[in-house]
Amino acid sequence: MSAEDSTIHRGLEGVVVDTTRISKVMPEINALVYHGYPVQELAEQCSFEEVAWLIWHGELPNAKQLAEFTAAERSQRGMSASLLDVMRKFPRAAHPMDALRTAVSFLGMEDREPEKEDATTNLRRSVALLAKIPTMMGAFYRFRQGQEFIAPRADLSIAGNFFHVCFGKVPAPEVVKAFDVSLVLYAEHGFNASTFTTRVVVSSLSDIYSGVTAGIASLKGPLHGGANEAVMKMLLEIGEPARAREWMLTALREKRKVMGFGHRVYKHGDSRVPTMKKYARKMAEFTGQTKWLDIADILEATMQEQKGICPNLDFPSGPAYYMMGVAIDFYTPIFVMARITGWTAHIMEQLADNRLIRPLSQYIGHGERRVVPVSGRS
Ligand code: COA
Repeated sequence: MSAEDSTIHRGLEGVVVDTTRISKVMPEINALVYHGYPVQELAEQCSFEEVAWLIWHGELPNAKQLAEFTAAERSQRGMSASLLDVMRKFPRAAHPMDALRTAVSFLGMEDREPEKEDATTNLRRSVALLAKIPTMMGAFYRFRQGQEFIAPRADLSIAGNFFHVCFGKVPAPEVVKAFDVSLVLYAEHGFNASTFTTRVVVSSLSDIYSGVTAGIASLKGPLHGGANEAVMKMLLEIGEPARAREWMLTALREKRKVMGFGHRVYKHGDSRVPTMKKYARKMAEFTGQTKWLDIADILEATMQEQKGICPNLDFPSGPAYYMMGVAIDFYTPIFVMARITGWTAHIMEQLADNRLIRPLSQYIGHGERRVVPVSGRS
């Protein structure tokens, strides 16, 4: 069948492009599993490190495997002096997603064996990316405020170390746990836009750093990862619970897309929301900042009543990060810190049985015509 006779699936909606073993999104029952394990159970019972291992290896690690993996990850958290120098020169007003995209791209140029594309080398690179991304984030967090770089610590979890490299201190265990839970929930989600982007990039046999750089670029957009930042800006704009209902009614009347609501796949609720809401609520109790979730509850109820559209993960994660004291423009980079596991797993899965991703388009431009020399054109 020619492209002209084919049905067009705009936004690839409903199109199944390949198989995957990594995760399954089940919108009909609001469920998400990583290699068969429900994400809610993983979030409550496992650390982000255990989940990273699961995503890459297909099984939860035993104690020995976890200890070895943790040691390997912690030993690679440092950054080269040249990358630090480059990051010092980044424009201070730059968005941290742009800073991260450039830093990951730079890391690709530092790879000593760029010609190696085997699975073992790519897994090693994936662990290094997992280890270094929080350090890069911390470096930019500090440099843009004119502060000195804080070296990562090897005695902290990935979640704990993130706070250390940004703020120079580690918050209470309750805060670290809520942050860790968010990393587990953000780690993997099927063929979403950024993951699919990484697979498209490496399907031409481009390298893993190029795939991840492109994934960051895709995730930045407000229709994807950027929504968690947009949610918090919206809550700040609304300011008070008393204004929330009217704000939502006006937004819907003006046919505006309200950030943090809706999903391409989940139409009856996002499987990750109840767990993240629970931990956002814990942050509200812990910090005494109850107002943001009060506003959020009213927005959610009003949206449900008016349009029946449910919130997605970005809706509770935005205010949770705010209550943890993280700058708003760092919320999407946190998503990167987690999704690096899913992206790299998909890159390796794509490369293990690769087929160039190359769809067709239906041409709706001008009919065929002849070129007239420039002197003869009117
Ligand atoms: N606010 C208001 N209305 C929304 C909405 C939102 N966040 N999300 C969907 N809708 C409405 C659409 O306007 C449309 O209404 P209509 O049929 O009257 O035109 C209907 O719901 C279907 O939406 P559609 O745009 O077809 O859904 P989609 O699958 O293409 O979009 C998103 C999915 C995620 C892009 C979309 O819901 C969105 O932009 N959400 C806000 C951004 C966000 O939170 N992104 C994070 C996703 S995890």
